[in-house]
Amino acid sequence: MLNPIKSWFSKRDVQSWRTAVAAMRREYTGEPLTEEAAGANPLELFERWYAEAAEQSLFDANAFVLSTVSENRPHARVVLLKGFDERGLVFYTNYESDKARQIDANPEVALTFNWPESFRQLRIEGTASRISGAESDAYFNARPAESNLSAVISPQSRPVESRQWLEEKQEALKTELQVSGKPLERPANWGGYRIMPKYWEFWQGRTGRLHDRIAFIPDASRPNTWKTQRLAP
Ligand SMILES: Cc1cc2nc3c(=O)[nH]c(=O)nc-3n(C[C@H](O)[C@H](O)[C@H](O)COP(=O)(O)O)c2cc1C
Repeated sequence: MLNPIKSWFSKRDVQSWRTAVAAMRREYTGEPLTEEAAGANPLELFERWYAEAAEQSLFDANAFVLSTVSENRPHARVVLLKGFDERGLVFYTNYESDKARQIDANPEVALTFNWPESFRQLRIEGTASRISGAESDAYFNARPAESNLSAVISPQSRPVESRQWLEEKQEALKTELQVSGKPLERPANWGGYRIMPKYWEFWQGRTGRLHDRIAFIPDASRPNTWKTQRLAP
């Protein structure tokens, strides 16, 4: 799809993107996010926003930036949301990856969804914990065979000698399974984490950069309820 901002700059023969970047500007023209529309339940608002993003997104609406902390610095990367309900939000990964080691040492994480088509951002902070083996098995067994081969042979986050090393490992496992006729089982080092939110913040881009920001904070006086707080953009 033609990017209107990109074509605007190329038409004017801009010397360098390094100088053009400061002038790159678009209006964020989202619908208002009122306290009434936000309601009292952040999960319900998330579900509505996710449904709209899934309809409109050119890419995966379920992609989010997962931030973790190690002892002295933050780390962030994109992962895919694969489930959500009252118990929290689920993604899958390698339990020996850097992110998993960081979560196991400190389960406090942050999630950032960016849904540019609707001028929306969602920030969540919460605590991550591993899901059950049975739940991970169910998801693993529903994935395409090729994805599972990659998951099994990849020592995620570790240095590897070459692309060829990975391809040969994948091919060798494929052949081994064809010969044995056995299905590929989920390895113990691959599975899901569920993040239980303790803070949600819905950001709606508005004209003139006067955006709407509504946070949901646990209501200390009543268990399992949230209070909303409007924040300055
Ligand atoms: C769109 C997209 C989706 C991704 N989804 C996942 C995912 O669901 N799980 C995962 O482990 N890595 C996923 N990745 C790769 C991660 O961003 C990251 O490179 C990898 O998990 C290693 O991170 P770590 O070394 O910090 O553990 C995805 C990357 C992108 C760009």
